Amino acid sequence: MEKLKSSCLSCRNCQLREGARQVVFGVGNPSSRVMLVGEGPGEQEDIQGEPFVGRSGQLLDKYLELIDLDRKENVYIANIVKCRPPQNRDPKPEEQDICIKWLREQVRIIRPEIIVCLGRIAAQRLISPDFRVTAQHGQFIEKGGILFMGTFHPSALLRNPANNPAALSDFQALRTKMQELGLNG
Ligand code: URA
Repeated sequence: MEKLKSSCLSCRNCQLREGARQVVFGVGNPSSRVMLVGEGPGEQEDIQGEPFVGRSGQLLDKYLELIDLDRKENVYIANIVKCRPPQNRDPKPEEQDICIKWLREQVRIIRPEIIVCLGRIAAQRLISPDFRVTAQHGQFIEKGGILFMGTFHPSALLRNPANNPAALSDFQALRTKMQELGLNG
């Protein structure tokens, strides 16, 4: 993973790198059985070099804590694109196409049992192009030997707290699934 990280940090394969302070590779335990994937770094992530460290990250940490998981100990967190898109716009499909190879390698190294997609961009990219978070959140879908689940993006929850109970039940479903699979995480 460290070798992959150092190649990734020197990547110049798309325009996003020019507008970003740094490449945000990923954080967590590479031996964990669960990965969480967001869309791309925001301002705080771009400054600090770690995924989900801004306000949305604090909310994510709360959800993890509620199910006894810790970002450094029991999960690995990464994004579809590793460099911050200007003004936090959605990463363009062509930017995702270029950058996704890093995530694929992260998945190949970690070999997670479960990947949780945080928000529409990650879910549409990793689960299905027509994935609808509001309709399909919390459902586990098996693909290539990995269980995928899509849930609300923490930033969307900050904008629309009415979805917090649904997000909580998704995280509880994650905990239950981990128990079923004997993953103590
Ligand atoms: N939003 C994301 O999708 N990823 C981050 O790392 C931070 C905010």
